[in-house]
Amino acid sequence: MDIRQMGRSDLDFASFCTETEGWDSEVREVFEGFHTFFPRGCLIAEKEGKPAGIIVATPYIDHGFIGELIVLQGYRGHGIGTALLSRALDVLRERGIRTILLDGDLKAVPIYERGGFRRICRSLRFNGSIICEMNGAIRPMSLRDLALIYDIDRELFGDDRSFFLEKCLRNYPRYCLVEEKKGRITGYLFGRKGKGLIVAGPWAVLQRGDPMAMMEGLSFVAKGIPLRIGVLENNLEAVRLMRSLDGFQEEEFSWRMEWGLPSGLGDNPCLFGIGSAARG
Ligand SMILES: CC(C)(COP(=O)(O)OP(=O)(O)OC[C@H]1O[C@@H](n2cnc3c(N)ncnc32)[C@H](O)[C@@H]1OP(=O)(O)O)[C@@H](O)C(=O)NCCC(=O)NCCS
Repeated sequence: MDIRQMGRSDLDFASFCTETEGWDSEVREVFEGFHTFFPRGCLIAEKEGKPAGIIVATPYIDHGFIGELIVLQGYRGHGIGTALLSRALDVLRERGIRTILLDGDLKAVPIYERGGFRRICRSLRFNGSIICEMNGAIRPMSLRDLALIYDIDRELFGDDRSFFLEKCLRNYPRYCLVEEKKGRITGYLFGRKGKGLIVAGPWAVLQRGDPMAMMEGLSFVAKGIPLRIGVLENNLEAVRLMRSLDGFQEEEFSWRMEWGLPSGLGDNPCLFGIGSAARG
């Protein structure tokens, strides 16, 4: 078995893998983003010259994320998943990264634990939408908002995910919203299109921000397309809000896991929704 860096021409295989698994949020554009940001982290495993599995490692400044680990069904149980994880860890460690996070599906948790990851908390998933009006304080995000949002997000999240925030706004301006009160940004919510759904997040609620108004705003612009939102169970207020909404169902959770130095990355109570299971 060989593991090599993906080329652009491998992105179809990567999205074939997520499609086969029914991961409706991880469309081809997601892989294009990963590949543009850090091609060395986009890995493909081949068995006898045929593609068999993928993984993506994403380095921020001090922290890294791992996601999109998939081995095609006929190739499972022969160590390919473990080898992909180990290579992804190497790629991030070579960059000097000392803390690596991921959201692990229940069945894959043993692989991650063997790789040295420990569980931090459940990473919950909610699907649905609410019927509503657009609240007056919510408006479309513009490119001019980004510099301030980068600063806020870096403070709240704990690292620099500006590349992915900008890409989300440029690709899906319709689904990116800010809440502004008396000239101050009190919250933001990024949304992007998946297959038959809108993936909501990051979702930040600052002082005097109204999380419900933001969720209603995104439901409004989504025009009936269901939303999917990831919420860390540590954020009690966000969990309480999502569980109180009749239009949303809670789905199977994964485990937010961490390798290396404990970081607290992403666990600020103002962060109501994660950006992505694969990159935090
Ligand atoms: C998880 C996955 C990548 C493992 O790949 P793999 O090449 O089979 O992994 P390895 O052979 O290195 O390790 C096998 C381990 O994977 C785990 N595993 C999870 N689902 C499995 C499956 N369907 N078949 C075999 N092993 C599976 C088991 O812990 C197993 O450990 P064991 O050998 O002690 O029983 C693969 O099963 C897969 O693609 N699953 C679907 C996508 C997914 O859930 N990805 C993880 C998202 S966080």
